[in-house]
Amino acid sequence: MASTLAKAAAGAPAVDHAARIAHVSKSFPTPNGQQLVLDDITLDVAPGEFVTLLGASGCGKSTLLNLVAGLDAPSAGSIETDGRPALMFQEHALFPWLTAGRNVELALRLRGVSKQDRRPEAERLLELVRLEGAYGKRVHELSGGMRQRVALARALAQDSRLLLMDEPFAALDAITRDVLHEELTRIWRETEVSVLFVTHNVREAVRLAERVVLLSSRPGRVAREWRVDIPQPRRIEDAAVAELSVEITEELRGEIRRHGQH
Ligand SMILES: Nc1ncnc2c1ncn2[C@@H]1O[C@H](COP(=O)(O)OP(=O)(O)O)[C@@H](O)[C@H]1O
Ligand SMILES: [Mg+2]
Repeated sequence: MASTLAKAAAGAPAVDHAARIAHVSKSFPTPNGQQLVLDDITLDVAPGEFVTLLGASGCGKSTLLNLVAGLDAPSAGSIETDGRPALMFQEHALFPWLTAGRNVELALRLRGVSKQDRRPEAERLLELVRLEGAYGKRVHELSGGMRQRVALARALAQDSRLLLMDEPFAALDAITRDVLHEELTRIWRETEVSVLFVTHNVREAVRLAERVVLLSSRPGRVAREWRVDIPQPRRIEDAAVAELSVEITEELRGEIRRHGQH
């Protein structure tokens, strides 16, 4: 398939990382002074790598992702990315008055794709997320899973080297989520995009990632990381996925107990 996503970056200098997060801290002002949310986070995402960032709610996952997206600045440390990352959230954030196709085309327009190329490219992207034929559908006509597929197509339309995903499937039922895990794994392999995927769901983290990074809470620090060597495509109910999930859950529980917030 002729993909503009798996671009060879002709002439561009070779970069050895999709994201480089170095000694990043983030504090927010509160009535009782500064609250340290992220403390000295160092984490690289290699080109084409799939990393999941796992942690309890409130540990600072979204804060870190927003920093990588450039939506906010770190209080200390530095973040470099290979170009501007694409972002996908739990809420699809599609424009309800536009069709699925037009939502994707809007991202293509912002990227500077010429008018005549937008429609075929939007259709190709909808096909990539297995929504061929949904071009003219309005957002309210689509199921939750289909909306997230459109949101994924729109994120891919940005042609970024790095895709940041903040609990994108958390609001979906388990069966739909399972199907979308499969699709995301396929698309990741086809496009060679790097992914930094945030979740509080251990099984989901293990199902998807080449590397799972566990964040501690209050403040968020890199507590531990695991390389996941289970061959893809995996299934969430695979014994190997379950086994590693048990180990990681134990560690996560320890983190939560240490902080006594839950
Ligand atoms: N803009 C902000 N101002 C003040 N506090 C914030 C802001 N954004 C996040 N926080 C605080 O940072 C902590 C981590 O939040 P968040 O990154 O959303 O966690 P997670 O995504 O892991 O659930 C929370 O205690 C939250 O209240
Ligand atoms: Mg969050």
